[in-house]
Amino acid sequence: MVIRKLNIGEEPPIDLLLLADPSRILVEEYVQRGECFVAENDGQIIGVYVLLPTRPETVELVNIAVIEAQNGKGFGKQLIMNAIEVAKLRRYRTIEVGTGNSSIGQLALYQKCGFRITGVDIDFFIRHYPEEIFENGIQCRDMIRLSQDL
Ligand SMILES: CC(C)(COP(=O)(O)OP(=O)(O)OC[C@H]1O[C@@H](n2cnc3c(N)ncnc32)[C@H](O)[C@@H]1OP(=O)(O)O)[C@@H](O)C(=O)NCCC(=O)NCCS
Repeated sequence: MVIRKLNIGEEPPIDLLLLADPSRILVEEYVQRGECFVAENDGQIIGVYVLLPTRPETVELVNIAVIEAQNGKGFGKQLIMNAIEVAKLRRYRTIEVGTGNSSIGQLALYQKCGFRITGVDIDFFIRHYPEEIFENGIQCRDMIRLSQDL
């Protein structure tokens, strides 16, 4: 598996990006404002993430996704560790990530990669998404914010 920055003029893997965030408008904005990286296996794009500068010295990991057929093989973890390395190279001091209160696997994964929970954006998904989201039998209402010092 090779992780590389998306080339200039190359189409971002929008279907894959939409797995992480159902809002096409937000996804397109993130790709424009941030740096998009893809993971390739035998020439096929199997994963993606975007690093989005948010505040001075702070970057947010957004839209991380791995194609369903390749889930659970460690690629997600490799992408997150790569994002942390890239953020360090770019001299950011803090990397942040946010996920839904119902995203149990993602919450486990981010903490396994060194992120700590720093806050909760109450009712974020109620305010920003027109349709109700359910995962693991839990309504996704709040955004759990996680962060790590670099
Ligand atoms: C989230 C996602 C990127 C993870 O990718 P992946 O390649 O399947 O993840 P990995 O195989 O690298 O790692 C999963 C890790 O999380 C752990 N994990 C997952 N679900 C878990 C759970 N319910 N409880 C405990 N640990 C869990 C696994 O045990 C594994 O850790 P390990 O390496 O210590 O065993 C992928 O599932 C995906 O694309 N989902 C859809 C998009 C999405 O939700 N993006 C994130 C938006 S916030």
